[in-house]
Amino acid sequence: MIKWGILSTAKIGIDRVIPAILESENGIVAAIASRDEKKARTVATRFAIPNAFGSYEELLACNEIDAVYIALPCAMHAEWAIKAADAGKHVLCEKPISLQADQIDPIIEARDRNGVIVSEAFMVTYHPQWHKVRSLLADGAIGKLRRVQGIFTYNNQDAANVRNIADLGGGALHDIGVYPTVTTRFATGAEPQQVSATIVRDKRFGTDVYASAVVEFPGFELSMMVSTQLALRQEMSFHGNEGWISVAAPFNAGLYDSDTVTLHSADRQTSQTFRFLGVNQYRLQVETFARAVASEKSELFSLDDSKKNQQLIDAIYRAGESDKRESM
Ligand SMILES: NC(=O)c1ccc[n+]([C@@H]2O[C@H](COP(=O)([O-])OP(=O)(O)OC[C@H]3O[C@@H](n4cnc5c(N)ncnc54)[C@H](OP(=O)(O)O)[C@@H]3O)[C@@H](O)[C@H]2O)c1
Repeated sequence: MIKWGILSTAKIGIDRVIPAILESENGIVAAIASRDEKKARTVATRFAIPNAFGSYEELLACNEIDAVYIALPCAMHAEWAIKAADAGKHVLCEKPISLQADQIDPIIEARDRNGVIVSEAFMVTYHPQWHKVRSLLADGAIGKLRRVQGIFTYNNQDAANVRNIADLGGGALHDIGVYPTVTTRFATGAEPQQVSATIVRDKRFGTDVYASAVVEFPGFELSMMVSTQLALRQEMSFHGNEGWISVAAPFNAGLYDSDTVTLHSADRQTSQTFRFLGVNQYRLQVETFARAVASEKSELFSLDDSKKNQQLIDAIYRAGESDKRESM
């Protein structure tokens, strides 16, 4: 059983990650911290969490916890991941763990000098539906992959939301652009080479609210589009010469749609659907993390992987600025 401390009273913690730890077989929630002690106490009471703190520093100093789950505005992730590691805590940090790939190097150094586990919370990589897509591609189920199509959009124009505040690391690519990229890299095992992109910023917020990119991988391309100001939609598909694969709810499985992967034949005559019932990807994420802490076998998302994913996001931003194809 690892003892978790929760850094902030963020919505994602309350809605998904705290309940997932409470359901998990190898973790308990021992503490929560907020900038506002009253908020921390309210959440602590709701989930029967024994310790509540009015500052993040107090939680990091608490001897009752082994690991910290960080769910702060994106611009604060790298700083607090390093502080938590330096306090001797294992760290599961929300995505994106940094706003730029080179900010991940100091996190790697902090991990290594403290001998702790640090991982970016890409819950999708723990969902068996993505393991299924990966094995179908590896087994040649669609022949030669030529194109991946990725879409993640929602419409949120609340000026107070962290996603719309530039100084806090808001923007579509930071918030959701990371998902089509990470799932493409995860499923194919391939790394990108070149990127071209169009990025639209909101004049009010100064953040990117629409980004479309063509990412060239060896032998195939990813065409992706993300937006924080378009109707809700999620889609990932993988198109080959002998068939194609679609994922109904690629990122918010079970919430956006059911957890299903469909393999379509080349001639549209047959299709095979793989269903994943009762999966909680957040629970799988925290259980995998706890196994890694216990030095058990686990496929935990690594900081090297974080760096590669962020290098791609950085390149998309560069391509949007330069209006040219950018190399990785
Ligand atoms: N993996 C997923 O499925 C998923 C889904 C949604 C979001 N996320 C990620 O989780 C993180 C939090 O997202 P969220 O939607 O849950 O955000 P949120 O509800 O706005 O929570 C952010 C929290 O950060 C703390 N905070 C510290 N300084 C702040 C500041 N200057 N302004 C605002 N809040 C501040 C606040 O906690 P206190 O007031 O308690 O200190 C606040 O509750 C983001 O990095 C996001 O990318 C991941």
